[in-house]
Amino acid sequence: MNTRSLFRVCNKLIGPSIACTPCRHVGTYKTVKRPDPSTLKMPAPGTAPKLMEIIKEKIRLKGPLSVAEYMHIVITNPTEGYYMKKETIGESGDFITSPEISQLFGEIVGIWFYAETQKMGMGPGRPLQIVELGPGKGTLMSDVLRVLHRLGYKPKDLSIHLVEISDTMQTVQAHQLCASHKGCDVDSPHYCEGETTSGIKVYWYYDLKKVPCNFSWYIAHEFFDVLPIHKFEKTEEGWRELLIDIDENEKLYYRISAKETNNVNNLIRPPLDGGDRTELEVSARGLGIARQLAQRVDGYGGLALIADYGHSGEKGDTFRAFHKHKVVNPLETPGASDLTADVDFSQLRVAASMTPGDENYALVVGPVTQRDFLRRTQAEARLKVLIDHAKSDEQKETLQAAYEMLIDPEKMGERFKFMAFYPSAMAAILEKYPPIGFSNLEKETK
Ligand SMILES: C[S@@+](CC[C@H](N)C(=O)[O-])C[C@H]1O[C@@H](n2cnc3c(N)ncnc32)[C@H](O)[C@@H]1O
Repeated sequence: MNTRSLFRVCNKLIGPSIACTPCRHVGTYKTVKRPDPSTLKMPAPGTAPKLMEIIKEKIRLKGPLSVAEYMHIVITNPTEGYYMKKETIGESGDFITSPEISQLFGEIVGIWFYAETQKMGMGPGRPLQIVELGPGKGTLMSDVLRVLHRLGYKPKDLSIHLVEISDTMQTVQAHQLCASHKGCDVDSPHYCEGETTSGIKVYWYYDLKKVPCNFSWYIAHEFFDVLPIHKFEKTEEGWRELLIDIDENEKLYYRISAKETNNVNNLIRPPLDGGDRTELEVSARGLGIARQLAQRVDGYGGLALIADYGHSGEKGDTFRAFHKHKVVNPLETPGASDLTADVDFSQLRVAASMTPGDENYALVVGPVTQRDFLRRTQAEARLKVLIDHAKSDEQKETLQAAYEMLIDPEKMGERFKFMAFYPSAMAAILEKYPPIGFSNLEKETK
């Protein structure tokens, strides 16, 4: 639990009337002067217990951890968690993402949302919430905003809602997007707010549930891959969960649960366990968020675009760690490397699609490869414009090389996939005007 959520829970329990009262007796209770939560501080980095110690202590106390519990601790620990540190994304960090490689990526995403929104009869002049999950350095959002400005959207009609767990990344995003920003009261649904130089309001949340339910564009780029996964293996006795334990040399290692864990019973269900699969990774959190996005898009209008590296259910063992752009053992040096697992898009499809008794569900399209999505959305034409306006040959070469990196099947072109959610009411419209980027009806250039 992060600091602010902790404060919120504490504040609720204590109640406003006795939170900071002087020491006195009320009935049989003795109330004490409690500190103002906003003055409490987390331990400074370096003075807090190391993640490895926290994890081992937890295993000693309650037994082996699921991979999801391990990932949750490593990614979200308020002081030592992976994303609480600086420089995780980029050349000098552990990995690089498409928006950081080329401005073209965010621009195409902006144009895609604009084009698909036109099919709903919405556009500039109508209020629009742009919601991004896991916004990293804020680069994708700033590229989208530049496009929207050119397409005629006015700042007064826009608001930006960022779901970000890391206070460190939040500060990076605020510097990228805002002229000013400030932290908010613990009772506020958002923990920070700011304003861009053009006057667009920006809000930060720890949880998508707190974002207002209005017509929205939802963007999740390289977000689902960082959500905790449970790992399962099929044994002769049936499905078992892979757990993390401590060996006799005090090192972390994987072991298979002797019996079915609750997670086996709760998460392995048809059609997820179908076919001859022997390994399975399931993110309960990912499925929950996909379902929320579908319900929001269907119930309040809008679109969701999910882009990540992933597969359609054919892979089962993809959990890994990145340190300085190299794959490393996820169980060594927790907190120092990025933990990730390929997104199983077939599971997101199930979570977002209509199930018996569901009122709100989405029309799900994709996944398609990044290469197909970018080529079908005319990224090459945009590249040409950028190259024509480049100031030097070197700049032209950089633009071209970045584009190749994004679409080359050997690099990011095939591994990265796109999926979109539309309101179910759009079925007939999409029949007539198929989703751009997802259907191969558009003329593709060789
Ligand atoms: C792999 S980075 C992707 C950044 C960005 N979308 C990009 O493509 O450059 C993951 C982002 O998600 C954030 N994050 C990780 N876990 C999260 C969670 N449970 N809720 C919200 N944000 C999270 C990280 O702090 C980081 O900003």
